[in-house]
Amino acid sequence: MKLTIFAATGGIGRQALDQAVAAGHDVTAVVRNPKKLSAKVRAVASDLAAPDPAVLESAVRGADAVLSGLGPRTASEAGVAWQGTRAIVQAMKANHVRRIVVVSAAPIGTVPSPGRPKPPDHDPGDGFFMRNLFSPLIRVALRKHYADLALMEDVLRDSGLDWTVVRPPRLTDKPVTGTYRTAFGQNLRGGFFISRADVAHLMLRALGQPETVQRTIGIAY
Ligand SMILES: NC(=O)c1ccc[n+]([C@@H]2O[C@H](COP(=O)([O-])OP(=O)(O)OC[C@H]3O[C@@H](n4cnc5c(N)ncnc54)[C@H](OP(=O)(O)O)[C@@H]3O)[C@@H](O)[C@H]2O)c1
Repeated sequence: MKLTIFAATGGIGRQALDQAVAAGHDVTAVVRNPKKLSAKVRAVASDLAAPDPAVLESAVRGADAVLSGLGPRTASEAGVAWQGTRAIVQAMKANHVRRIVVVSAAPIGTVPSPGRPKPPDHDPGDGFFMRNLFSPLIRVALRKHYADLALMEDVLRDSGLDWTVVRPPRLTDKPVTGTYRTAFGQNLRGGFFISRADVAHLMLRALGQPETVQRTIGIAY
């Protein structure tokens, strides 16, 4: 496939890039700093906090699908996920590219946003520990980050595109296994970890699975 991968120098993005190249896909990588790229592919430089629409359009033109590992590296960068994704969506629409798979986070199903002002109090996949202890604490600690990801999900739901949102729990740097649980629209009971490599594996796998279109997917071991 012809793939455009945004944030291909991030933890998940780099894994997606390396796995896509190994699988023989024709990849364009859109990154802030092409010098950080781990593979020799067509590189497009763009700061997604202030993107040039023409640059993004050239990056997605002719793509079969778009993958994005975009997310704020710090609290002060929060906002980049939804604003950058909005710019990606606009570039895709302008070029009739329909398929996009992005990374969100496990708690986002319970985070209110303008598009989902009254989400459920608890994710149906979360057990006692997640619901009552971990999730409330982390939601306070990462409030800005999660608000950004919830808005990013709004952008995709409103886009009319063939989107898939992957919502991982705590990320690790362990190697790819290809062996993990997934669930549509909810988290995985007792699933506290997933490697960045396996999130990337699912993102690539989802491209061949039409049933993942317009769905959120929980993933964990
Ligand atoms: N950490 C966790 O345990 C966890 C759990 C669940 C979900 N998540 C979500 O998963 C996302 C991906 O995880 P990760 O480990 O791959 O994150 P990461 O390594 O921090 O990657 C974030 C990517 O976004 C890019 N980026 C940020 N601001 C940008 C900008 N203004 N313009 C262009 N690119 C920009 C970064 O580019 P540079 O390489 O140039 O910095 C990097 O490639 C996180 O951002 C978070 O939202 C994280």
